[in-house]
Amino acid sequence: MTDTHRYLVIGSTGKTGRRVMSALNERGLDARGVSRSTEIPFDWNDHSTWSAALQGIDRAYVTYSPDIAIPGAVETVEALVQLAIDKGVKRIVLLTGRGEEEAQRAEKLIQRPELEWTVVRASWFMQNFSEGAFTGMVMEGAVTLPARDIAEPFIDVDDIAEVATVSLVEEGHAGRIYEVTGPRAITFTQAVAELSEELAREVHYERIPTEAFVSGLEAAGLPDGVAWLLDYLFTTVLDGRNVEVHHGVEEALGRPPRDFRDYLRDAIAAGAWEVNR
Ligand SMILES: NC(=O)c1ccc[n+]([C@@H]2O[C@H](COP(=O)([O-])OP(=O)(O)OC[C@H]3O[C@@H](n4cnc5c(N)ncnc54)[C@H](OP(=O)(O)O)[C@@H]3O)[C@@H](O)[C@H]2O)c1
Repeated sequence: MTDTHRYLVIGSTGKTGRRVMSALNERGLDARGVSRSTEIPFDWNDHSTWSAALQGIDRAYVTYSPDIAIPGAVETVEALVQLAIDKGVKRIVLLTGRGEEEAQRAEKLIQRPELEWTVVRASWFMQNFSEGAFTGMVMEGAVTLPARDIAEPFIDVDDIAEVATVSLVEEGHAGRIYEVTGPRAITFTQAVAELSEELAREVHYERIPTEAFVSGLEAAGLPDGVAWLLDYLFTTVLDGRNVEVHHGVEEALGRPPRDFRDYLRDAIAAGAWEVNR
């Protein structure tokens, strides 16, 4: 049967959004991707941009930026969800994070009888090392963060995107909270050691005091909110509450999640940390 739904991806140039857009396009579906830099612009901080983005849409993948845990995000997502329902959206897949009180509040917002909803609650992304906040540090040979010796089951965003895509497009995923993690929890020391080994280049992990980390970020000109967020993620969220591996990938896709080593080999093959890229 032909799929006549009209899909929206909010945050379509981001780590998961980009991959969901590609998957929808590969399936030949009618998909609109939006962010602040797209042809039809969408800005979480400018409500006047929301209506045009939602026009004619009935299924949406929603990623909030910079992070669903920041103060005010829940209220903003709530307003977006209401407008989406008013404009005829019937299915929402929401990306959230594990162990964040605010993220879990946001999840409740889509759990409404008018909606077919799915939550994809993710652990820390492996791609933070190659497409995100830690990439520059890897390139410089020293990942310096305030993370303690606490393990995290990093997840490959390819897995998140596949879970989000099937939840958006296929049947049988409504009303599910997929808590998605990688197959094993590793500390930052271990993660960087594995990275260094696969890359065959010296990269080490160095723990620095939180205060030094935050003031370094501020000195580098990061907006206040981002420094606050990283501080929150490293001091509050990375405290051991999320060590446990969960099986959301297997529940949604019927296969195990990708391992950190698989991610590293693919990222290296794609030239992720090449010096003259
Ligand atoms: N990174 C992790 O380890 C992790 C773990 C669990 C959950 N998450 C969740 O993942 C979500 C996205 O994180 P990410 O790391 O994937 O982000 P990302 O790769 O940095 O992508 C952010 C996306 O949002 C867009 N964007 C940024 N500011 C925007 C704004 N004001 N209005 C509209 N669009 C905006 C960006 O495009 P433009 O710049 O073009 O606007 C881009 O498409 C967050 O909600 C976070 O809580 C992240």
